[in-house]
Amino acid sequence: MKTRPLAAGLSIVLAFALHLHAQSPSLTPSLNIDVSHPTARVSPTLYGLMTEEINHSYDGGLYAELVIDRAIGHGFGALVHWPMVARGNAAVEVSEDDTTGPSAALPRSLKVSVTAATDAAPAGVENDGYWGIAVRPHTTYSGSFWAKSDSGDVPVTVSLENDSTGFVAAKTTVTGLSGEWHEFAYTLKTGDVAVSANNHLILTISRPATVWFDLVSLFPPAYRGRVHGNRVDIMELLAAMHPRFLRLPGGNYLEGDHIATRFDWKKTIGPWVDRPTHQSPWEYRSSDGMGLLEYLEWCEDLKIEPVLAVYAGYSLAGEHVDPGPALDPYVQDALDEIEYVAGSAETRWGAERAKDGHADPFPLHYVEIGNEDWFDRSGSYDGRFAQFYHAIKDRFPNLQLIATAPVNSVAPDVLDEHFYMPAEESFAQSGHYDNHPRTGPKIFVGEWATREGDPTPNLEAALADAAWMTGLERNSDLIVMSSYAPLFTNVNPGAMQWAPDLIGYDALSSYGSPSYWAQAMFASNLGTEIVPAKLAGTATRIYTSVTRDETQHKLYIKLVNATSDPQPLAIALEGAGKVAPQAELITLSGKTPNATNSIANPRSVIPVKHAIAVAGPRFTETFAPYSVNVLELSYQ
Ligand code: AHR
Repeated sequence: MKTRPLAAGLSIVLAFALHLHAQSPSLTPSLNIDVSHPTARVSPTLYGLMTEEINHSYDGGLYAELVIDRAIGHGFGALVHWPMVARGNAAVEVSEDDTTGPSAALPRSLKVSVTAATDAAPAGVENDGYWGIAVRPHTTYSGSFWAKSDSGDVPVTVSLENDSTGFVAAKTTVTGLSGEWHEFAYTLKTGDVAVSANNHLILTISRPATVWFDLVSLFPPAYRGRVHGNRVDIMELLAAMHPRFLRLPGGNYLEGDHIATRFDWKKTIGPWVDRPTHQSPWEYRSSDGMGLLEYLEWCEDLKIEPVLAVYAGYSLAGEHVDPGPALDPYVQDALDEIEYVAGSAETRWGAERAKDGHADPFPLHYVEIGNEDWFDRSGSYDGRFAQFYHAIKDRFPNLQLIATAPVNSVAPDVLDEHFYMPAEESFAQSGHYDNHPRTGPKIFVGEWATREGDPTPNLEAALADAAWMTGLERNSDLIVMSSYAPLFTNVNPGAMQWAPDLIGYDALSSYGSPSYWAQAMFASNLGTEIVPAKLAGTATRIYTSVTRDETQHKLYIKLVNATSDPQPLAIALEGAGKVAPQAELITLSGKTPNATNSIANPRSVIPVKHAIAVAGPRFTETFAPYSVNVLELSYQ
């Protein structure tokens, strides 16, 4: 292609101008860092996780159970996920039986009445799982169910079959049924099968009989080999975020729509057969497989601490419990819950935990009283908080207590503040805490997110999130903890109630959004002290925070370039002494702010590491358009 003379001339001028710009320190914005005068300590617990049952976070998500609606009955969508199976001339009726169940907590069951069946033409029920059941080769699946029959020992065949081909990936037979409810265990082992998600679980019998089932379950191998544990892929994503705590069990999920549907922790512990399940405020019923102990074991597996939120007498439909004697039972429940988590096995509730399989107490430093109690228009939170505060401090004086709204009658140790923002607001609010008074309670930013992207945040959200996080870090003398919300979504149609969510998955795989990666980058390079840094010159939409690790002599420069242009910066390290000639630059970037990750393209926007040369304490580095960066330097 021929270049027209005018255009060619123009491009020479432009190139010259760019060269001048790169050379001239006066035109290049600068970042001046006072390495030797840190202003405060970074909170080591700055980054953590917030969780609740929303978007099929546990059932159909982290909790590795493969069977949907394993507990039969009220609120579990009747028998939508339990259609009948009749091969050949077999005949069967499947119904919900409200007159018999395996326990007082689960008084209903699945009644399978087979009137014609043979070995060649069996009949029974099937379950389609959470948008499919993932099958992998050479894998042992552990299953169980409760059952009884009207005809003695009717053998039950259990198999994993492909939805479209009917291919049987694994099969076994369970015997020993009787007229009484009992639990039966089984295993399914796959051989050299292809990986697939479109499978279902089938339970059939080969002769006329009536069999009742409940709590039909199937688990793949879980993270760290835990029985009935968590999905390996999702736990690995969480571990790579380097979180320091898990705020549990919510969120709205703690409160419930009504007092009767709150997270009533005592109904979530012990054998499944004693867990009645409950309606969550997020449109579906929770199996409560992820009960209080499972949350704690999740923390243990990630080597992090729980931040335990206790129900404080307010539910989302506006129901509240007045402070005073009416609130006493709820306060007692919270004291019992704390004892279950952190009491020795000699205490009443510590002994209960030991009976449930965990003799050692869990570490616990923070307890949150309620959730978003600014929604309680009755004005009762002040009194409710004070009642919980005094009772908990009396019994557990070392616990730090978190209020969820400002209170006057007693001084909380920490105040939980929540921010859900469009991208422009996250950018604009990145200095929100810069001039915040240091005289009140510490701050826990217990829920925050830039709401751009669906189902998971896009690069624009990640840039805005990172800008916001620079503010959290600069102020981490005040902000003791922070956690993004919501953490998870199952990306299948109909699974999600709230977008965006940090991590997405389906039955087979999972991915981290660009915002996930930005958080992982920040949390893995936290530092121990806040270092003052000033941007000078004409740099717009550039956000930064600097920390150092005083024992490792490392400096971490976080820098967000939210513009479409490369951004050169003259970096000056005052008081750094000798700077290592090679540094590491981790960059998360993309071509447009809409760039994102998905199940189909899980790694479009991921951090990339480069080694860069550093000339000395003064050097210029150019940061890519639309980028989140962590520059790690060593100094003496
Ligand atoms: O994160 C989703 C919801 O947002 C939480 O359950 C609630 O605390 C907040 O309003």
